[in-house]
Amino acid sequence: MIGSPRGRPGVAALILVAVAVGACADHPPSLARQHYLLHCMGCHGEDGAGLDGQVPDLRRDLARLVAAPGGRAYLLRVPGVTQTTLAPAEVAEVLNYTVREFGGAEVARRIPPFTAAEVAAARSTPLLEVTTTRAGLLGGSGLPTGGR
Ligand code: HEC
Repeated sequence: MIGSPRGRPGVAALILVAVAVGACADHPPSLARQHYLLHCMGCHGEDGAGLDGQVPDLRRDLARLVAAPGGRAYLLRVPGVTQTTLAPAEVAEVLNYTVREFGGAEVARRIPPFTAAEVAAARSTPLLEVTTTRAGLLGGSGLPTGGR
């Protein structure tokens, strides 16, 4: 191929490996991320973008929600969180991952980490008025999320 000497794909692969290793040094590929990919990504997307009009974009509202009074209880009690088959300790880790990844490191530092005990307690009191609670937390600006 013109302009593509034989050695180049190899070099590109090496650069990719170096970038991946560099990324791993900062954020080891955690079990929490794997759990997110298996149990949450189907609705929320790998990048947290969600599904237009059905699943909210975590990158947009999560930081505000987690900081709002009552926001922590909301996050712990949305159906996707209370109904997952993951164990409470795993859910706590996934929530901490989710906040860090999509709410931002700064937000994650400001809140106490979610715990297994909190998750277990929240499971027994799932949220019934999800959309109304969410809109209230966001000051009425919560977008419709599919009417669940
Ligand atoms: C079946 C689809 C689905 C799955 C699976 C799911 N979620 Fe959700 N999630 C939603 C929807 C829809 C909302 C918006 C609230 C509502 O209507 O339930 C939401 C809201 C949230 C919120 C609050 C963000 C906001 O803007 O309201 C968090 C945090 C969250 N989910 C985390 C998770 C985690 C962590 C998992 C995996 C353990 C998960 N979700 C699995 C659909 C899902």
